[in-house]
Amino acid sequence: MKIAFAKPELPGSGTIVVGVLEEHRLTHTAQLIDKQTKGAIARALAVGRFKGRPDEQLSILAPQGIEAGRILLVGLGKAEALDSLALQAIGGRVVGALNAAGEHAATFVVDELGGLKLSVAEMAAHIAFGARLRDYRFDKYRTREKPEQKPTLKRLIITLEDPGAARRGFEPLEKVSDGVFVTRDLVSEPANVIFPESLAEETKKLTALGVEVEVLGEKQMKKLGMGALLGVGQGSAHESQLVIMQWRGASDAKQRPVAFVGKGVTFDTGGISIKPAQGMEDMKWDMAGSGVVIGLMHALAARKAKVNAVGIVGLVENMPSGSAQRPGDIVTSMSGQTIEVINTDAEGRLVLADAMWYCQEQFKPQIMVDLATLTGAIIIALGTVHAGMFSNNDTLAERLADAGKATGELLWRMPLADAYDKLINTDAADMKNIGGRNGGSITAAQFLKRFVKETPWAHLDIAGVTWSDKDAPTVPKGATAFGLRLLERLVADHYEEKQA
Ligand code: BES
Ligand code: MN
Ligand code: ZN
Repeated sequence: MKIAFAKPELPGSGTIVVGVLEEHRLTHTAQLIDKQTKGAIARALAVGRFKGRPDEQLSILAPQGIEAGRILLVGLGKAEALDSLALQAIGGRVVGALNAAGEHAATFVVDELGGLKLSVAEMAAHIAFGARLRDYRFDKYRTREKPEQKPTLKRLIITLEDPGAARRGFEPLEKVSDGVFVTRDLVSEPANVIFPESLAEETKKLTALGVEVEVLGEKQMKKLGMGALLGVGQGSAHESQLVIMQWRGASDAKQRPVAFVGKGVTFDTGGISIKPAQGMEDMKWDMAGSGVVIGLMHALAARKAKVNAVGIVGLVENMPSGSAQRPGDIVTSMSGQTIEVINTDAEGRLVLADAMWYCQEQFKPQIMVDLATLTGAIIIALGTVHAGMFSNNDTLAERLADAGKATGELLWRMPLADAYDKLINTDAADMKNIGGRNGGSITAAQFLKRFVKETPWAHLDIAGVTWSDKDAPTVPKGATAFGLRLLERLVADHYEEKQA
């Protein structure tokens, strides 16, 4: 779908999309069209239950007096509640509705509403952002799909008095959506296509945007002492990889970077502690944390963020085989701490332990945020709405929670405490990799914390939010890229030099 901004003009065909505030308050353009159509809008509003609430839409087909084939009235809700997130959702819903209706082209008229914090240009940019996010579809393997099964909407024009201003506002948002699509593509690919070496290869595309990419193989990781990460991958025919991506966008080259670390288990069978067959195919997305880190680096570099940022992803495949790690094995991590591997299916934390240690040793970051589809227990606790957040730093936790609210990627802070930490003690080594059934997400986070130095750190357990089985306004079903918009926002709000 092509998105363009233009001066107000009624379309010669297709759909004209017009916003209606709650309680039927028509925008200026809606009133105009109502006149031209001899009251079609007023009559439609009178007979339907459409009130103008944000989730409501009403189609008027083949109206008289104008050339457009359809008028789509979209609810805007209350003017004071129309923030960037609400506008993105409206843009997304419009795309969803027009594709369902089989429409090819649409013109969305954005009017001055009054009483809004956002300018008309900002409104238009956020509508476009939401529309573009919703337009994503991973269909490269659907080779026999008939044209009528495919999305129809090819062109969305958003009209306003100053299209140039909207275009300028949309530019960075478009870059962020490009990053989101990179993530969604990587997470959607099956594990016979995306495995440690091929995912590492994908990250090299970032060099075109000015990101420095370094890939470490097993030999180099062995030298560094990464026994925890390497143990997870030792049963796989694929070679484990650690990828370090650096974006140096700060004017002060010595600015300590912000760091993002992703779990990249390209497939998680559970290893010798093998998972049941039912639903195991989902474990192709056990690399979503790394997918988000890669997409985030894309977004930051593409919009030339004025910040130094590093992304590190630990890429392994967790397989059972004659060379696989066994329950009871004891491995030595890069930090020197030893780990008794009680359950080979608690592998993500082993990967992160070495990736996070390396990150801190190498970069002394000002903050470190890790993302991981770490535990089934977080899905039991929070469902598919909030991701779990664990942090050793209240300021960072607050900033993350706020960025989450602003982007619709919600976080819920979970506890860390010594009493939980004790649960991963063992007689055989410095720690074991599981803490029993109770509080499974918390003991996993406590495990990670043992590999965090003084760095302000947060761990996001995204197991419940990374894949969705139903369409949401700006997130079609499938890979969500949850965490990318949130972290992009965190960087923009708190760690980036302000534009002069
Ligand atoms: N990748 C899984 C967690 C997961 C489960 C993500 C379901 C998404 C959906 C992780 O590696 C895992 O297997 N965790 C175990 C830990 C347990 C063995 C302590 C779990 O949650 O069952
Ligand atoms: Mn596992
Ligand atoms: Zn896993």
